[in-house]
Amino acid sequence: MPSSNADGRYDAVAQAFHWLIVALVAIQFVLAKAAMSLPLGLHKLILFARHKSFGMTILMLAVLRLAWRLRHPPPPLPHGMTAAERMLAHATHTAFYVLLIAMPLTGWMMSSAKNYSVSWFGLFTWPDLIRPDEAAFKLLRETHDLSSNLLLAIVVLHVLAALKHQFWNKNDALLRMLPLTRSKRRS
Ligand code: HEM
Ligand code: HEM
Repeated sequence: MPSSNADGRYDAVAQAFHWLIVALVAIQFVLAKAAMSLPLGLHKLILFARHKSFGMTILMLAVLRLAWRLRHPPPPLPHGMTAAERMLAHATHTAFYVLLIAMPLTGWMMSSAKNYSVSWFGLFTWPDLIRPDEAAFKLLRETHDLSSNLLLAIVVLHVLAALKHQFWNKNDALLRMLPLTRSKRRS
């Protein structure tokens, strides 16, 4: 397996985790917003069941991704970034990992608090995390909702930063995370 540090790029596994999770997070927002707009009924329940299954998949992938990262440290940030940019990049990455774990956990706990089961694509059911509790449900729902707004804001910041570094600073920051590309510049 090629090392992520060998040529200043993320390795294939890190790239696969990154883009798979990006796609699943996008699906999560589409499913949640579509489900929320529907009246109570079978269609709404089906969309939420999918939302929960994909959300639990994100939780598993985020844990695996962190485990992979521990053994395969990412390449250093590109040269030429200011101290503030470096700090912001590290803070953004950390916030992503926290949210990719916290969001599924709050969703899972919210479902337990409402006494709704959480299945994984109908294959098995996850255990309840907490006892039914209406006050806890409300708090967790608010936390889940706020976290989703925070995640969205960080994604916008992250994408703008990636595009700025690629096209303004021309340091190939975006190419480091793209498969089937080569970085001309070394980080
Ligand atoms: C990274 C994973 C996840 C993301 C990005 C995500 C995102 C969202 C978003 C954007 C909403 C709509 C919020 C709103 O407009 O008020 C939502 C609602 C919801 N999510 Fe998630 N979610 C994730 C994981 C989960 C998981 C794993 C579960 C349950 C096991 C879950 C259960 C719910 C429920 C029940 C709602 C509806 C809350 C309500 O009635 O207001 N979510 N989620
Ligand atoms: C849900 C959306 C996204 C999430 C959760 C996310 C998450 C992350 C995380 C956690 C890292 C750090 C990887 C590590 O060092 O372990 C990262 C790096 C990166 N992401 Fe994203 N990302 C998202 C969307 C995007 C998009 C849409 C782009 C493309 C414009 C992008 C481009 C990059 C690039 C270029 C890097 C490497 C940055 C560097 O070298 O410091 N990401 N992303």
